[in-house]
Amino acid sequence: MRKEVDFLIIGSGIAGLTYALQVAKHGKVIIISKAIADETSTKYAQGGIAAVMSSPDSYNKHVEDTIDAGAGLCNREIVEMTVHESTARIKELIKWGADFDKQTDGSYSLGREGGHSENRILHHKDATGKEIIRALLQAVKEHENIEILERHFAIDIITQHHMGLRVYSRTKNIQCYGAYILNPNNNKIFTILSKITMIATGGAGNVYRTTTNPIVATGDGIAMAYRAKAKIENMEFIQFHPTSLYNPGEKPSFLITEAMRGFGAILRNKKGVAFMSKYDKRKDLAPRDIVARAIDSEMKTNGTNHVFLDCTHLNKENLVTEFPGIFKKCMSLGIDIREDFIPVTPAAHYTCGGIKVDKNSRSSIANLYASGECSSTGLHGANRLASNSLLEAVVFSHNAACDSIEQYKTINWRDDIPDWNAEGTILNEEMILITQTQNELQLIMNSYVSIVKSDLRLQRALDRLHLIYHETEELFNISILNKELCELRNSINTAYLIVKQAKARRNNIGLHYSIDLKKS
Ligand code: FAD
Ligand code: SIN
Repeated sequence: MRKEVDFLIIGSGIAGLTYALQVAKHGKVIIISKAIADETSTKYAQGGIAAVMSSPDSYNKHVEDTIDAGAGLCNREIVEMTVHESTARIKELIKWGADFDKQTDGSYSLGREGGHSENRILHHKDATGKEIIRALLQAVKEHENIEILERHFAIDIITQHHMGLRVYSRTKNIQCYGAYILNPNNNKIFTILSKITMIATGGAGNVYRTTTNPIVATGDGIAMAYRAKAKIENMEFIQFHPTSLYNPGEKPSFLITEAMRGFGAILRNKKGVAFMSKYDKRKDLAPRDIVARAIDSEMKTNGTNHVFLDCTHLNKENLVTEFPGIFKKCMSLGIDIREDFIPVTPAAHYTCGGIKVDKNSRSSIANLYASGECSSTGLHGANRLASNSLLEAVVFSHNAACDSIEQYKTINWRDDIPDWNAEGTILNEEMILITQTQNELQLIMNSYVSIVKSDLRLQRALDRLHLIYHETEELFNISILNKELCELRNSINTAYLIVKQAKARRNNIGLHYSIDLKKS
């Protein structure tokens, strides 16, 4: 089977859906989602979306905060463009139906998070992402030009490589013609030919054992683009969220939003001592890389697996009203956040790097765009400022839409693209070969490629990744494909990029910190 479409979008998070809503006015759209459509990182966003809405905030302050958090590696032009577009993009989200909390005087209730010098986080209680995805999915489902294929899995994007040509990273004019899609209901792989392809597949938290990311975040889009020889950058900058709920065995780790520290909550170590003033003058609201390293250091010094977040001094009624999801979750574990300290520990949270794109979200491959967490736009540099990722997704998907509605008119579907070749493949009846390797991968990454790295740990990780890479490629080549095997392959590719790019970085900067390197 094959389908032809103007715009193929892989991913149904904020990046994919906002792009879809804009290009659907101009042509037929298919959105591929490997789970049910709302199962995305977007749905779990708590704190909110950063935007400049009113004084005393200003575009300039948001720009400087972003650049400061990014430790000098942000692209200033991109930061300025993104921040200046923030107000317009928020209005668009509201137009699509998203609801953000307001104060009694009708102005937006703006929260605060680490690294922000002003209150500028629009939110919907502590469930902002759930509200955004609800509104966007409703608008998408009502649009006659958009078809969503849920529980379908994009295996690879199609380039000249699939037509028998050798493609290298130095090859000029690599083109994307669509993607091969696995329908897990019948294990059949079909072809979607598209004029424009948008990768919006989110992050890669699940290459780690402990992550706040839902299980869909396995780095698929980054791995697909890498195999197609697109440029991938900044993968060493994996952001660990300082405060995931310490509840061993729970996957994904439940997030305790940074907005709680913005609300006045304080980090304390095992002895009950508030320790952040030892590490940064901004204390609990320092940027995330600093807070996560401080917690790591306290845990190692005190021999503990967690520290505590203390809300007990805060207004109890307001605490419950502002953070109902966290209150309920903690209560279910016997923790009353009004009276008890919350045990918290860092967890892999956000992939700052990814598919390198320009200001219009164009990748280095023709007709291939990337937006959202799978992309590297230059906004985050070496460390993302809290709540800047939802913003990045809406700004870049908007720019991508404006650019691709011009581009797609000049492109025709190719009629010489071969179907996926599954000849000679057999059913793999040993799932253990996949699940055990996934466990190994996550342990390698947690043990050797975490908040604090060293040359030796990175080399150990690389040596072990080589082994599981070869084993998994072999399995991939002989097997009738399933989602789990494809995800594992993608996760290994993504982990390899993280380790390789970490090894290549020779100074400590932002989220990249090794005991063997000096600070830049
Ligand atoms: P996602 O929302 O993750 O969507 C990815 C989509 O791609 C999914 O539909 C998935 O099924 C699909 N997909 C992936 N691979 C394939 C494949 N091979 N085939 C088919 N489909 C595929 N950011 C903020 O700015 N503010 C916050 O408050 C905030 N809080 C967060 C809280 C949590 C718990 C987490 C995990 C993240 C948070 N973030 C926050 C980060 C932010 O939510 C994400 O960066 C953002 O939502 C990513 O959006 P996206 O559209 O790029 O990807
Ligand atoms: C949070 O609510 O702490 C997460 C915000 C983010 O990841 O940007």
